[in-house]
Amino acid sequence: MKARILPDETLRKLAAQHGTPLYVYSAAVIRERVRELGGFDRIRYAQKANAHPEVLRLLRSLGVVVDAVSAGEVRQALAAGYQPSEIVYTADLFDRRALEELRRHPLPVNLGSDFMIEQYAELREKSGGPRDILLRINPGFGHGHARKVNTGGETSKHGIWFEQLRDCVQRAVRCGLRVHGLHLHIGSGTDFDHLVRVCQAMEQLCMVAEEAGAHIEVLSGGGGLPIPYRMGEPRLDLVRYKAAWMETRQRIAQRLGRTITLEVEPGRYLVAESGLLLTEVRGVKQSGSVRYAIVDAGFHNLIRPAMYGAYHQISALGQTERTATRPTVVAGPRCESGDVFTVDTLGHLLPQALPDLTCGDLLCIHDTGAYGASMASTYNAQPLAAEVLVDG
Ligand code: LLP
Repeated sequence: MKARILPDETLRKLAAQHGTPLYVYSAAVIRERVRELGGFDRIRYAQKANAHPEVLRLLRSLGVVVDAVSAGEVRQALAAGYQPSEIVYTADLFDRRALEELRRHPLPVNLGSDFMIEQYAELREKSGGPRDILLRINPGFGHGHARKVNTGGETSKHGIWFEQLRDCVQRAVRCGLRVHGLHLHIGSGTDFDHLVRVCQAMEQLCMVAEEAGAHIEVLSGGGGLPIPYRMGEPRLDLVRYKAAWMETRQRIAQRLGRTITLEVEPGRYLVAESGLLLTEVRGVKQSGSVRYAIVDAGFHNLIRPAMYGAYHQISALGQTERTATRPTVVAGPRCESGDVFTVDTLGHLLPQALPDLTCGDLLCIHDTGAYGASMASTYNAQPLAAEVLVDG
């Protein structure tokens, strides 16, 4: 059973105070994750994982800069105290709201589609602002914890296709822009054979860009650092992960004869394990051989199981390793058969070991600090659930 991020007593008090469903985050866990990523020149937080204002403020106080993928995310970061220079807008398009936000706040951009080059140049002609840009490249291969999050190869909409890099750098130069960095975020989930390929691709791409007229000073390896959602899953070998990137940076710096700033851009790694979703059991029922615990949280609070078949361990407050359990399917209140938290990647029921439950018992859905609240909806006219960050 996974350890809970806070004592059961504290969780019970929070549930009584704020009601359920409730997202609870621990600042201590976030601090620890930031510390672990020391060694990169910059940690750029992918705020899409969790943009609670207190989470953003905490990360900023720890020296972590931020990535924004929309006008709304730019505004969230500014509201949390980030300076425009600490935010990078990364997207595969400029919608009109994003262009307006960038006109008002001239912040750095990372372009994921070739057509954005001329659009950005036009914006800067009219309103001034940074002429240095990053290009997000699709190296022709990808990776991801599920097909829906694979971010490379020709079946992915993300990034500038690697064979167009030379042309894009030249187009940028013609528009009076300077490509000063490359970005490769090619998947949520990492294995080391794959990482070696990514690092090699980065080196080759830097050389191509430089020959075409870029002046590479910044490299971003993107995010996608995995966390162990399942008990017993090994943690990411951070020493090896960092070493692969540092060596790549070193080789590129030597070949180009200048200092290179290396960024990492995690979302999940910084916040997933800091959070749990607290939900109340409203009743238990038996349908044939299947035991259902019906809870007050649903896929409007946590879409990951329904969307990707993602696994989140569930435990009951008061449950210990010695508690007797039985296989239980945990399902939400939404008027949809797919509103079930315990499923496999094909959507089949995957019961979890839970004690005998009754109405009023509280369950923790673990590792929901990333892509929980940030992907929530108000489907079925349900309000968004409250979020609490506990510090100390
Ligand atoms: N950078 C870029 C450009 C990204 O698109 C993403 C995630 C990240 C960084 C952060 O990835 P992370 O370190 O959190 O894996 N909603 C899905 C994940 C989709 C992520 C999309 N982009 C989930 O619940 O697993």
